[in-house]
Amino acid sequence: MINREHRMILSHSRCQQYRNGKFFRNLCFATVVILLMVATIICTPIFIKKLKGVEVATLVTITPTTTTVMKRELTTPPSASISSSTTTRRTTQSITKTATKEDAIRRRWTQNGTTVAGENGQGNRLNQLNNPSRIRIDVDDDQIMYILDRNNHRVVRWKQGEQEGEVVAGGNGIGSQLHQLNLPTDLIVEKSSNSLLICDYKNKRVIRWFIRNKTNVQQQIILSNFDCSSLAMDVDGNMYVSDHRKREIKRWRKGDTNGTVVANGNGLGDQSNERFPLIPIFIDGNHSVYAVDNYNHRILKWTKYAKEAIVVAGGHGRGDSLSQLAVPSELYVDYHGNIYLADEWNYRIVRWLNGAKEGSVIAGGNRQGRAPNQLNLPSSVAFDRQGNLYVADSGNHRIQRFDVINH
Ligand SMILES: *[C@@H]1O[C@H](CO)[C@@H](O)[C@H](O)[C@H]1NC(C)=O
Ligand SMILES: *[C@@H]1O[C@H](CO)[C@@H](O)[C@H](O)[C@H]1NC(C)=O
Ligand SMILES: *[C@@H]1O[C@H](CO)[C@@H](O)[C@H](O)[C@H]1NC(C)=O
Ligand SMILES: *[C@@H]1O[C@H](CO)[C@@H](O)[C@H](O)[C@H]1NC(C)=O
Repeated sequence: MINREHRMILSHSRCQQYRNGKFFRNLCFATVVILLMVATIICTPIFIKKLKGVEVATLVTITPTTTTVMKRELTTPPSASISSSTTTRRTTQSITKTATKEDAIRRRWTQNGTTVAGENGQGNRLNQLNNPSRIRIDVDDDQIMYILDRNNHRVVRWKQGEQEGEVVAGGNGIGSQLHQLNLPTDLIVEKSSNSLLICDYKNKRVIRWFIRNKTNVQQQIILSNFDCSSLAMDVDGNMYVSDHRKREIKRWRKGDTNGTVVANGNGLGDQSNERFPLIPIFIDGNHSVYAVDNYNHRILKWTKYAKEAIVVAGGHGRGDSLSQLAVPSELYVDYHGNIYLADEWNYRIVRWLNGAKEGSVIAGGNRQGRAPNQLNLPSSVAFDRQGNLYVADSGNHRIQRFDVINH
């Protein structure tokens, strides 16, 4: 800065020597103006960056002051952490009857999505996301989103309309310490206990992260030493966990010492060649278990007490016809048993009505891209109380909202 100013003054005084010539006077004036402009252009971003650095530093810090270590193996009861309260359990995955069967079938969404978080490039600043892989909407406030920002190893709480989010879990670098995450793959937001349940994939554990307030952050390992793939909770607050190595889904009731296998590998294909060999799961209001069988590009459903699964979507190989899927990454099932799927490698969100032989495209499906009507590797679907659809558009590092047209 000083050097530049110095140089400007120097050149200005040199100009003085050519006072007599009008031409040189104009040239001299022009040079000073250009130098000033260049200096402004160069210095402004540096100044802004400095300002932003200060903001980031103050917003990011959620220091764990009290940290309880409760290491638990799979064989020890997770009861204390699964439920201590007897109040109504409220999770962002709870099934609420929001529409009649006919209304649910008639429901449509806008073709153009609105970006409600991210889309500022791939990165780890607070206004950026890096492969967001789960999106959850707060059950009490439709404006608040919880985003599993997978490749930033963090969970971000983001209010719609705001320019940036707030880190509420992880974001402390890759690692296996209690305040760190390593490629988290699934998320449950439990409002009754004000905590997050996170499937911490690379750390092979399920961790509970209390988010009461910034001065009191606590983590608790609920399950460890197993290949955590996906998490779900039923209406009674029982937790379900899928294990992609054993290819099984276990249920943990309150007070359980050992989990109970509710669905085993029968039917689930070998996924060891997949990029992430995950088994995303969902539990509907009747305790039916759904699992994504990526290897076979289909969705399996085990009704309560059933030993064998039935295919409820896909199952016709990989493809982009309406009866096919391509590596679906998450599913949501509504009160009436209709299935909503992030059909990741078809760049679309599809709905399979209960019992249907094929699905219909409800968002995207216009090839890979970043236009408002396009998606790029959609990896999660969620709905708010109005029925608006939210998609974690992983490859575009953004969250898209598709407004419901007819409620
Ligand atoms: C959707 O977005 C595209 C691209 O921005 C625009 O051309 C089109 O008019 C939009 N359609 C509607 C219905 O808003
Ligand atoms: C944070 O939470 C703890 C435990 O619930 C409570 O004791 C403390 O007062 C809270 N602090 C603030 C600033 O709300
Ligand atoms: C839990 O599993 C372990 C190991 O399989 C077994 O030894 C133990 O008896 C089981 N506990 C209960 C209460 O079933
Ligand atoms: C649960 O069962 C009831 C009664 O059979 C049915 O009306 C409802 O659609 C079922 N829910 C789901 C999600 O399948």
